[in-house]
Amino acid sequence: MSKYKVKTLNDPEDKTVLEKKHIPFITAPESVEKGEVFEITVKMGKEIDHPMQEGHFIEYFDVYADDMKIASVTFTPECEAEATLKLKLEESVTLKVAEYCNLHGYWAHEKEIEVK
Ligand SMILES: [Fe+2]
Repeated sequence: MSKYKVKTLNDPEDKTVLEKKHIPFITAPESVEKGEVFEITVKMGKEIDHPMQEGHFIEYFDVYADDMKIASVTFTPECEAEATLKLKLEESVTLKVAEYCNLHGYWAHEKEIEVK
């Protein structure tokens, strides 16, 4: 497992323990109106909460609308690895979230958001 490569979900039906802890779980509407403010929640991970303690924690995650970075959230071990953001979009995008665990490196997941 290279520390320099972004890891994504291989098989949603057969997740590894590391994937269950690290893949960013994105809760967001399937579609929104142009310019409408909506919420997304990002949590690491889905089936298993990622540890947040000295020596092993999620340091940050970034949110991209297609290729443009639109948000960045930094954590300390005093936090839970979860945040809710308010966004507004002008056009349909692939929303990508990339997170960094200080021990296990980069993990990413994405979700299509349709803008009407
Ligand atoms: Fe980790």
